[in-house]
Amino acid sequence: MALEQLDADLWVADGPVAVDLLVVPYPTRMTVVRLADGGLWVASPVPTPVEVLDALRELGPVRHLVSPTPRHHWRLESWHALFPDAALWSCRTGPFTLGDKRLPATVLTDEAPAAWAGQLDQAVYRGRGFEETTFLHRASRTLLVEDIVQSHRPSVGRPLLNGLIRFGNVQAPGGVPRDIRAISRRGARAWVERVLSWDFDRLVMAHGPVVATGARAYVERAFAWALR
Ligand SMILES: [Fe+2]
Repeated sequence: MALEQLDADLWVADGPVAVDLLVVPYPTRMTVVRLADGGLWVASPVPTPVEVLDALRELGPVRHLVSPTPRHHWRLESWHALFPDAALWSCRTGPFTLGDKRLPATVLTDEAPAAWAGQLDQAVYRGRGFEETTFLHRASRTLLVEDIVQSHRPSVGRPLLNGLIRFGNVQAPGGVPRDIRAISRRGARAWVERVLSWDFDRLVMAHGPVVATGARAYVERAFAWALR
């Protein structure tokens, strides 16, 4: 659960393995970007040991706590208590939102706010009752996604679980979860066309391994159904 540096101003830290309603265990990950002013931007913060918090504090002040997907909105709560001065940012919350919807967060749009414009670009994936924001960290040419692309490895001796992962369309090397895919093909197409206009080679997913290189081809493959 240590802080892992991926690039000059980009880190990830894995959180606990969570279990969803269908008893599928899935890894969780947060992303940390150090902005030009030295402040830290933290997306989908996870529960972390105190050593990780200490390591973070050495990198700079935590200024932004971001929930790019409504399903991670609840994760802002404890970090808001830890870093009360940090600004909160969230996707529009909807029926998928878990936990407290009353946090004083600013809603993310397709336009980067002044706080990180020119450093992080953003694109909202829109469907009925669901929005998730994807970011491009320009300096490291890294795409940051949460739930809309996932990759889960099959487990030995667990055929039922592996069947669920396959059915969910998220078996390694990964894909767009069946439920999110069902929300809006048009929204998916608009999203992927915008994202493919960006310059990136690495992909960080909240639920899956880091794709260190070749991320453009990975996204094209995962979204082939929407581009057809
Ligand atoms: Fe998630």
